[in-house]
Amino acid sequence: MKNVIFIAPPAAGKGTISDYLVKNFNYVHLSTGDMLRSEVASGSLLGKEIDALISKGSLVSDELIIKLVESKLKNELFGKLFILDGFPRTLPQAEKLDEMLISMGVTNNVVIYLDVTLEEATKRAVGRIVCPKCSRSYNVYYKEASPLIEGICDDCGVALEKRSDDTEETFKKRYQTYLDSTSPIINYYKQKGILESINVMRTQNEVAKDILSVINDENVSVKRRKSD
Ligand code: AP5
Ligand code: MG
Repeated sequence: MKNVIFIAPPAAGKGTISDYLVKNFNYVHLSTGDMLRSEVASGSLLGKEIDALISKGSLVSDELIIKLVESKLKNELFGKLFILDGFPRTLPQAEKLDEMLISMGVTNNVVIYLDVTLEEATKRAVGRIVCPKCSRSYNVYYKEASPLIEGICDDCGVALEKRSDDTEETFKKRYQTYLDSTSPIINYYKQKGILESINVMRTQNEVAKDILSVINDENVSVKRRKSD
């Protein structure tokens, strides 16, 4: 199986698919959003600076995020099958990631673009509730994304919360930030020939099937030969 790098608009479903891959396969999940929210929750000075940026839908600096990811990749993720969720998000981050992966000799990667409309992503963000302990996402608008007991995490048994950046107003800004800073890297990976696109405007089970077909080495090569 391949290491997975997700490129997607906010609230497309990166975290949800990552949970599925972690629970069913041998993946280790690195979510930069979760890392930054932990720093915010710690109450540190850095956390306060990060919180100010996240709350207004802006990105934290490339320097900071690259430093955090580089340390995780080289220490905790090295030699493991991994998912990068939320990184890279800018062209400098994508270029730096290439450099890191090459220096680590990691070549078995697929970049997956999750295709979702603004309207659907907005509904997913506004209806999202998350577990403060394990970060699992649920949704009040979709039966298949509902917890078994209303307002409680199925896995941890703790009360679910809303994310501070999931208001409709902040979501508009997050989406604009995605268009301005992140969407250019779609072409960057297309040109490298390692981008797979998946329509996520379907049920989680349907999305999972498509994900499996692109992370499995054999299926990817069969798919490529067919489309040649
Ligand atoms: P981050 O946490 O990465 O936020 P995001 O990219 O906006 O993505 P989300 O976590 O909101 O959505 P998701 O795609 O994980 O969707 P989910 O699976 O939860 O980043 C937060 C902030 O940190 C950024 O705005 C930025 O400030 C900063 N940051 C992070 N990385 C950075 C970087 N590299 N550089 C600079 N700054 C950085 O699903 C969403 C909802 O939909 C859930 O309710 C879920 O249950 C539901 N759902 C999922 N799939 C389906 C389905 N198929 N059908 C119906 N509902 C579904
Ligand atoms: Mg997420």
